[in-house]
Amino acid sequence: MSENSHSPRQGMRHDMPDTDLPPREFWDELYSQRERMWSGNVNSTLERELTTVGPGTVLDLGCGEGGDVLWMAQHGWRATGIDISRVAIDRARQRAQSLGLNEKQARFLVADLHTWQSAETFDVVVSSFLQSPVPLERERILAEALQRVTSGGRFIALSHAGLPPWADYDPDFHRFPDPEQEATLLVPEGSRDTVVFAGIVQREVEGPDGQTGTIPDGLIVIDKA
Ligand SMILES: C[S@@+](CC[C@H](N)C(=O)[O-])C[C@H]1O[C@@H](n2cnc3c(N)ncnc32)[C@H](O)[C@@H]1O
Repeated sequence: MSENSHSPRQGMRHDMPDTDLPPREFWDELYSQRERMWSGNVNSTLERELTTVGPGTVLDLGCGEGGDVLWMAQHGWRATGIDISRVAIDRARQRAQSLGLNEKQARFLVADLHTWQSAETFDVVVSSFLQSPVPLERERILAEALQRVTSGGRFIALSHAGLPPWADYDPDFHRFPDPEQEATLLVPEGSRDTVVFAGIVQREVEGPDGQTGTIPDGLIVIDKA
Protein backbone atom coordinates (compact mmCIF):
# COMPACT_ATOMS: atom_id res chain seq x y z
CA MET A 1 0.00 0.00 0.00
CA SER A 2 1.37 3.40 -0.80
CA GLU A 3 0.39 6.57 0.95
CA ASN A 4 1.31 10.21 0.89
CA SER A 5 0.69 11.11 4.49
CA HIS A 6 2.94 11.86 7.42
CA SER A 7 5.46 14.16 5.91
CA PRO A 8 4.43 17.70 5.19
CA ARG A 9 7.37 18.16 2.89
CA GLN A 10 7.36 15.28 0.49
CA GLY A 11 8.34 17.56 -2.35
CA MET A 12 5.94 20.30 -1.27
CA ARG A 13 7.32 23.48 0.14
CA HIS A 14 5.49 25.68 2.54
CA ASP A 15 6.59 28.61 4.62
CA MET A 16 7.94 27.46 7.92
CA PRO A 17 6.37 29.61 10.65
CA ASP A 18 8.82 31.39 12.91
CA THR A 19 10.37 28.69 15.11
CA ASP A 20 10.63 31.25 17.94
CA LEU A 21 6.85 31.21 18.26
CA PRO A 22 5.41 29.35 21.26
CA PRO A 23 4.70 25.73 20.13
CA ARG A 24 0.91 26.15 20.13
CA GLU A 25 1.13 29.20 17.85
CA PHE A 26 3.75 27.56 15.65
CA TRP A 27 1.58 24.51 14.98
CA ASP A 28 -1.64 26.51 14.55
CA GLU A 29 0.10 28.71 12.02
CA LEU A 30 1.55 25.73 10.16
CA TYR A 31 -1.83 23.99 9.97
CA SER A 32 -3.53 27.24 8.91
CA GLN A 33 -1.33 27.44 5.81
CA ARG A 34 -3.31 24.65 4.15
CA GLU A 35 -6.87 23.43 4.24
CA ARG A 36 -5.44 20.01 5.05
CA MET A 37 -1.89 19.14 6.07
CA TRP A 38 -1.88 15.33 6.01
CA SER A 39 -3.51 12.77 3.71
CA GLY A 40 -6.09 11.68 6.28
CA ASN A 41 -5.22 8.02 5.62
CA VAL A 42 -4.05 5.76 8.39
CA ASN A 43 -0.31 5.12 8.42
CA SER A 44 0.23 1.65 6.91
CA THR A 45 2.76 0.55 9.57
CA LEU A 46 0.42 1.63 12.34
CA GLU A 47 -2.48 -0.16 10.67
CA ARG A 48 -0.44 -3.37 10.57
CA GLU A 49 0.61 -3.05 14.22
CA LEU A 50 -2.89 -2.27 15.48
CA THR A 51 -4.44 -5.11 13.53
CA THR A 52 -2.33 -7.59 15.51
CA VAL A 53 -3.64 -6.40 18.89
CA GLY A 54 -7.33 -5.92 18.21
CA PRO A 55 -9.66 -3.14 19.36
CA GLY A 56 -9.79 -1.61 22.84
CA THR A 57 -9.02 1.82 24.21
CA VAL A 58 -6.26 3.78 22.50
CA LEU A 59 -4.56 7.14 22.97
CA ASP A 60 -2.85 8.91 20.04
CA LEU A 61 -0.22 11.48 21.11
CA GLY A 62 0.03 14.46 18.75
CA CYS A 63 -2.81 13.16 16.56
CA GLY A 64 -2.81 16.14 14.16
CA GLU A 65 -5.92 16.17 11.96
CA GLY A 66 -6.90 12.77 13.35
CA GLY A 67 -6.44 10.46 10.34
CA ASP A 68 -5.16 7.60 12.49
CA VAL A 69 -7.72 8.13 15.28
CA LEU A 70 -10.57 8.11 12.78
CA TRP A 71 -9.33 4.87 11.23
CA MET A 72 -9.08 3.33 14.73
CA ALA A 73 -12.62 4.47 15.60
CA GLN A 74 -13.93 3.01 12.36
CA HIS A 75 -12.28 -0.30 13.27
CA GLY A 76 -13.85 -0.69 16.70
CA TRP A 77 -11.34 1.15 18.88
CA ARG A 78 -12.44 3.72 21.47
CA ALA A 79 -9.90 6.27 20.39
CA THR A 80 -8.67 9.48 21.99
CA GLY A 81 -6.45 11.89 20.08
CA ILE A 82 -4.56 14.76 21.71
CA ASP A 83 -2.87 17.61 19.94
CA ILE A 84 -1.57 21.05 20.88
CA SER A 85 -3.12 22.62 17.77
CA ARG A 86 -6.74 23.72 17.96
CA VAL A 87 -6.77 24.16 14.19
CA ALA A 88 -5.83 20.50 13.71
CA ILE A 89 -8.27 19.26 16.36
CA ASP A 90 -11.16 21.30 14.91
CA ARG A 91 -10.54 19.57 11.59
CA ALA A 92 -10.39 16.15 13.26
CA ARG A 93 -13.68 16.78 15.08
CA GLN A 94 -15.38 17.96 11.89
CA ARG A 95 -14.23 14.87 10.07
CA ALA A 96 -15.40 12.59 12.89
CA GLN A 97 -18.81 14.23 12.71
CA SER A 98 -19.01 13.86 8.95
CA LEU A 99 -18.14 10.16 9.33
CA GLY A 100 -20.92 9.72 11.92
CA LEU A 101 -18.50 8.88 14.74
CA ASN A 102 -19.52 9.85 18.26
CA GLU A 103 -17.34 11.06 21.18
CA LYS A 104 -17.05 7.57 22.63
CA GLN A 105 -15.62 6.30 19.36
CA ALA A 106 -13.38 9.25 18.47
CA ARG A 107 -12.61 11.83 21.15
CA PHE A 108 -10.29 14.74 20.44
CA LEU A 109 -8.62 16.97 23.03
CA VAL A 110 -6.58 20.14 22.63
CA ALA A 111 -3.72 19.89 25.12
CA ASP A 112 0.00 20.35 25.47
CA LEU A 113 1.42 16.93 26.27
CA HIS A 114 4.04 18.53 28.53
CA THR A 115 1.35 19.58 30.95
CA TRP A 116 -1.64 17.31 30.21
CA GLN A 117 -2.98 15.91 33.49
CA SER A 118 -5.21 12.87 33.54
CA ALA A 119 -5.40 9.61 35.45
CA GLU A 120 -6.71 7.76 32.40
CA THR A 121 -5.03 4.59 31.18
CA PHE A 122 -5.37 2.91 27.78
CA ASP A 123 -4.94 -0.56 26.28
CA VAL A 124 -2.71 0.93 23.63
CA VAL A 125 -0.82 4.23 23.44
CA VAL A 126 0.37 5.36 20.03
CA SER A 127 2.85 8.08 19.17
CA SER A 128 2.84 8.65 15.44
CA PHE A 129 5.48 11.15 14.32
CA LEU A 130 5.40 13.23 17.48
CA GLN A 131 8.27 15.35 16.18
CA SER A 132 8.63 19.08 16.11
CA PRO A 133 11.01 21.82 14.98
CA VAL A 134 9.99 23.77 18.09
CA PRO A 135 10.70 22.68 21.67
CA LEU A 136 9.27 19.26 22.47
CA GLU A 137 10.42 17.04 25.32
CA ARG A 138 9.74 13.95 23.27
CA GLU A 139 11.49 11.42 25.51
CA ARG A 140 9.81 12.67 28.68
CA ILE A 141 6.39 12.65 26.97
CA LEU A 142 6.92 9.12 25.64
CA ALA A 143 8.13 7.87 29.05
CA GLU A 144 5.06 9.34 30.77
CA ALA A 145 2.79 7.95 28.07
CA LEU A 146 4.20 4.46 28.57
CA GLN A 147 2.94 4.68 32.16
CA ARG A 148 -0.57 5.24 30.78
CA VAL A 149 -0.58 1.79 29.15
CA THR A 150 -2.57 -0.77 31.12
CA SER A 151 -0.85 -3.95 32.27
CA GLY A 152 -0.67 -6.33 29.30
CA GLY A 153 -1.20 -3.46 26.88
CA ARG A 154 1.03 -2.09 24.14
CA PHE A 155 2.95 1.07 23.33
CA ILE A 156 3.70 1.87 19.68
CA ALA A 157 5.90 4.79 18.59
CA LEU A 158 6.61 5.71 15.00
CA SER A 159 9.07 8.40 13.96
CA HIS A 160 10.47 9.79 10.75
CA ALA A 161 13.89 8.27 10.22
CA GLY A 162 14.60 9.66 6.77
CA LEU A 163 13.04 11.23 3.69
CA PRO A 164 11.78 9.94 0.36
CA PRO A 165 14.15 10.56 -2.57
CA TRP A 166 12.24 13.60 -3.88
CA ALA A 167 12.11 15.56 -0.61
CA ASP A 168 14.45 18.38 0.37
CA TYR A 169 16.28 17.93 3.63
CA ASP A 170 15.65 20.81 5.97
CA PRO A 171 17.76 20.55 9.15
CA ASP A 172 15.34 22.87 11.00
CA PHE A 173 12.37 20.68 10.27
CA HIS A 174 13.81 17.18 10.00
CA ARG A 175 15.26 15.61 13.11
CA PHE A 176 15.36 11.86 13.24
CA PRO A 177 15.27 10.10 16.61
CA ASP A 178 17.07 6.77 16.97
CA PRO A 179 14.45 4.10 17.85
CA GLU A 180 16.93 1.73 19.49
CA GLN A 181 18.30 4.48 21.71
CA GLU A 182 14.80 5.65 22.62
CA ALA A 183 13.69 2.09 23.42
CA THR A 184 16.64 1.75 25.82
CA LEU A 185 15.60 4.94 27.59
CA LEU A 186 11.96 3.82 27.76
CA VAL A 187 12.74 0.30 28.96
CA PRO A 188 15.94 0.53 31.01
CA GLU A 189 17.70 -2.47 32.52
CA GLY A 190 15.56 -3.93 35.25
CA SER A 191 12.24 -2.81 33.78
CA ARG A 192 9.59 -5.53 33.53
CA ASP A 193 8.29 -4.11 30.24
CA THR A 194 9.39 -5.83 27.02
CA VAL A 195 10.75 -4.22 23.87
CA VAL A 196 9.09 -6.27 21.13
CA PHE A 197 10.73 -4.26 18.33
CA ALA A 198 12.98 -1.23 18.03
CA GLY A 199 14.41 -0.40 14.63
CA ILE A 200 13.75 0.88 11.12
CA VAL A 201 10.92 -0.24 8.84
CA GLN A 202 10.41 0.85 5.23
CA ARG A 203 7.13 2.33 4.03
CA GLU A 204 6.01 2.83 0.46
CA VAL A 205 4.94 6.40 -0.27
CA GLU A 206 3.65 8.33 -3.24
CA GLY A 207 5.28 11.63 -4.19
CA PRO A 208 3.62 14.86 -5.31
CA ASP A 209 4.03 13.94 -9.01
CA GLY A 210 2.71 10.43 -8.62
CA GLN A 211 6.18 8.88 -8.25
CA THR A 212 6.64 6.11 -5.71
CA GLY A 213 9.47 5.52 -3.30
CA THR A 214 10.20 4.20 0.14
CA ILE A 215 10.72 6.09 3.33
CA PRO A 216 12.36 4.76 6.50
CA ASP A 217 10.35 5.03 9.72
CA GLY A 218 11.59 4.36 13.24
CA LEU A 219 9.33 1.90 15.04
CA ILE A 220 9.24 1.01 18.74
CA VAL A 221 6.82 -1.59 20.08
CA ILE A 222 6.75 -2.20 23.84
CA ASP A 223 4.58 -4.62 25.78
CA LYS A 224 3.64 -3.36 29.24
CA ALA A 225 4.23 -5.81 32.07
C1 LIG B 1 4.57 15.71 12.58
S1 LIG B 1 2.96 16.02 13.23
C2 LIG B 1 2.23 14.40 13.24
C3 LIG B 1 0.72 14.42 13.22
C4 LIG B 1 0.02 13.09 13.19
N1 LIG B 1 0.35 12.24 14.31
C5 LIG B 1 0.32 12.36 11.91
O1 LIG B 1 1.07 11.38 11.95
O2 LIG B 1 -0.18 12.79 10.87
C6 LIG B 1 3.30 16.32 14.94
C7 LIG B 1 2.07 16.69 15.72
O3 LIG B 1 2.43 16.85 17.09
C8 LIG B 1 1.70 17.93 17.61
N2 LIG B 1 2.44 18.43 18.79
C9 LIG B 1 3.65 19.02 18.80
N3 LIG B 1 4.00 19.38 20.06
C10 LIG B 1 2.97 18.97 20.87
C11 LIG B 1 2.74 19.05 22.27
N4 LIG B 1 3.62 19.61 23.10
N5 LIG B 1 1.58 18.55 22.76
C12 LIG B 1 0.66 18.00 21.92
N6 LIG B 1 0.84 17.89 20.58
C13 LIG B 1 1.98 18.37 20.05
C14 LIG B 1 1.64 18.93 16.47
O4 LIG B 1 0.60 19.87 16.60
C15 LIG B 1 1.43 18.00 15.27
O5 LIG B 1 0.07 17.80 14.99
